[in-house]
Amino acid sequence: MPEITPRGLTGLAFGGDYNPEQWPEAVWEEDVRLMREAGVTLVSVGIFSWALLEPAPGAHDFGWLDRSLDLLHDAGIRVDLGTPTVVPPAWFYRAHPDALPVTAEGVRLAFGSRGAICHSNPAYRAAAADITTRLAERYGDHPALAMWHVHNEYGVPVSACYCDTCAAHFRRWLERTYGGVDAVNEAWGTAFWGQRYASLDEIDPPRATPTVGNPAQALDYRRFADATMRENFTAERDILHRLSPGVPVTTNFMTALSQCDSVDYWAWGREVDLVTNDHYLITDGRRTHVNLAMAADLTRSVAGGAPWLLLEHSTSGVNWQPRNPAKAPGQMARNSLAHVARGSDGAMFFQWRQSRRGAEKFHSAMLPHGGTETRVFREVTELGAAVQSLASVRGTRTEADAAVLWDWQSWWAQNLDWRPSQDHDARERADAFYEALYDHHLTVDFARPEGDLSRYPLVVVPALYLMTEAAGDSLRRYAEGGGTLVVSYFSGIVDEHDAVHEGPYPGALRDVLGLTVEEFSPLLEGERVRLTGPGGAELQADVWTEFVVPRGAETVWTYADGPAAGRPAVTRHRLGEGTAWYVSTRLGTDGLATVLARAAEDAGISPRDDLPHDVEVVRRSGDSGRFLFAINHSGADAKVPLETPGTELLTGERAAGRLAVPAGAVRVVRLDG
Ligand code: GLA
Ligand code: ZN
Repeated sequence: MPEITPRGLTGLAFGGDYNPEQWPEAVWEEDVRLMREAGVTLVSVGIFSWALLEPAPGAHDFGWLDRSLDLLHDAGIRVDLGTPTVVPPAWFYRAHPDALPVTAEGVRLAFGSRGAICHSNPAYRAAAADITTRLAERYGDHPALAMWHVHNEYGVPVSACYCDTCAAHFRRWLERTYGGVDAVNEAWGTAFWGQRYASLDEIDPPRATPTVGNPAQALDYRRFADATMRENFTAERDILHRLSPGVPVTTNFMTALSQCDSVDYWAWGREVDLVTNDHYLITDGRRTHVNLAMAADLTRSVAGGAPWLLLEHSTSGVNWQPRNPAKAPGQMARNSLAHVARGSDGAMFFQWRQSRRGAEKFHSAMLPHGGTETRVFREVTELGAAVQSLASVRGTRTEADAAVLWDWQSWWAQNLDWRPSQDHDARERADAFYEALYDHHLTVDFARPEGDLSRYPLVVVPALYLMTEAAGDSLRRYAEGGGTLVVSYFSGIVDEHDAVHEGPYPGALRDVLGLTVEEFSPLLEGERVRLTGPGGAELQADVWTEFVVPRGAETVWTYADGPAAGRPAVTRHRLGEGTAWYVSTRLGTDGLATVLARAAEDAGISPRDDLPHDVEVVRRSGDSGRFLFAINHSGADAKVPLETPGTELLTGERAAGRLAVPAGAVRVVRLDG
């Protein structure tokens, strides 16, 4: 299948969200002049403009958008045109107050911010289809149009609505999914606490209850809410496909696990023509470049490995965290080019010109309040030139060494209430395993548990609590066929309805791991345990221990103390041609790196100890060549060995042997051959 890319772009995309409606038209000329100066090639327009495009019901004003698009087109800047359906106008809500979403506690949210939408509401659906149709009719073949940007970040800020319209829609979803109430009772285990339903009509959304509600109901509601948003996306997409044929349609994802948790991007990745993503650094004291790399890898993975596009990130600080530090000099370029290394065919920002008014006036932009004589604008202009010099990277694919399994539905299930320990967090495990792989300089794809894993020598399973039998079978086939698996505790415990697999834990993985788990024994807050292993090497762990009974697996590390003292802590099981490792406690990144180094030996992956810490080395390859990205996040100058000589694209210099990458710098070598 040919990859679908923004129309009319020859190199990588560079630009950002552009909100001309926030400025007098006199400013627009300057915008376009400075965009050209900065090397901007693509802007996202009109995302929040419904109230301006339709100031009164049925009365449209497209004049300003016509003029803005024509101006951009004359300057050769391509447009990613938004459908403004994330913010219906105030008049719409006066006519349809029931289109405002309701929380689980029964509070109806108000107009005056953004994203206040009940996605089941028929009036909203009709109005969204109408404005989308009008935009597609008017601009569907506009010469500036590169792609369509539907809505904005489905899933945030409201992940689900609990109103009566949604209740009725949920019942229809249950009917379609289960066929009738008996199957729902069975799947949800309603024999527990007398929750049995006589008819689907008795079922409501999982609204606030006196104590913990039915977990399978809560899990299904997340699936329903996700599917409902997807219905609305595909409805708009289909209108755009019909009226604007050949123009790719996207909606901006937020794959960072900390930024949007309500959308199953595996499913969404199949619906968009081009995967696009927004990413913001979370400054919580951790290594932000590792979190960025992970989000970029996840985005590429939901795109099936194809190139994707970073549609938003920030030039400097954001405005919505408790503390919003400015980016350090050079950090913006490192961030942008790290996304490119991991498959983005461009680097775009929120937003072009920093707003003077509204909630985001302290959010950085490409053109800050301070104007062009600022560090940010100078760095933006330099980055624009750098991005231009990487045009040949476009369309190539990032090479991966290993896979990490990830599943949003498992994460939803695991975050339900009343689990063995509130200190266990599936996302934290995914972060930690990822970081350990990153520190070994391994580039990873994320993969679905049921998918074909045979091309990866190493597959890591951070904490996949919900795992279908099919997923367990797939992992067994993978290991038997010669793969190496590393599995965290609390994986393979329940099925798709949050029901514990029959027999001892971990039901879906007992045979693969060659063990059973008799009991979980989570640790108290702050409690730590020691593990002893090969050659007396000690590891530290916390949060979780359990009583592992080997049934074929060998013990590699043993608990030296704590509730499981003397029992296996880390095990290794040979099956078929492959190996399955099990880590029954929460190791820190260093401990995981130690275990992963052993597993990598089993997988035949040679460690890259020749690469310095925090120097990221990633390769993209394809018809236009093979490219080595070296990004130095550290404060020290570094050298990166090159497998073949090549040309460094940012400086134009020849490179051979050991490539010098100064502290904080990025180098991109097009390798010869
Ligand atoms: C999101 C939105 C943008 C903007 C940025 C600010 O990604 O899509 O409209 O609010 O956050 O960081
Ligand atoms: Zn609703």
